[in-house]
Amino acid sequence: MRYGTIVAAAFALMAGAGQAIAGDAEAGRAKAATCVACHGPTGISVNPLWPNLAGQQEAYLAKQITAFKDGTRSDPSMTAMVTALSEQDIADIAAVFAAQTCK
Ligand code: HEC
Repeated sequence: MRYGTIVAAAFALMAGAGQAIAGDAEAGRAKAATCVACHGPTGISVNPLWPNLAGQQEAYLAKQITAFKDGTRSDPSMTAMVTALSEQDIADIAAVFAAQTCK
């Protein structure tokens, strides 16, 4: 019983380490239209309080967007932005910023 629980937990961790859905940057560009108002069209922000997203790891971006959506991570600017996004939207948007060049 206990062993089964540990195995299940290990698999859950492994599943969480990878990205469940493949992101499509082409499809993501339109979906990221509202995001670039703060994070910048090139993923470089003009406000020191808004993070640069250009060149960030795709899986990390998807993880953070999901965290804002499910409330694990909370920020007044961000939370409202991501509530309506589907898992596919999140993957696509993460692919857009990951493909950009960081400064
Ligand atoms: C009104 C400005 C604003 C808009 C619009 C906005 N964000 Fe953000 N974003 C922020 C701020 C501020 C933070 C930093 C939050 C914090 O301090 O925890 C942030 C953080 C993030 C992070 C975490 C970065 C990191 O390094 O951990 C991601 C990913 C992100 N935003 C993606 C998006 C996406 C995707 C959209 C569009 C759906 C979006 N943001 C729209 C202001 C904005």
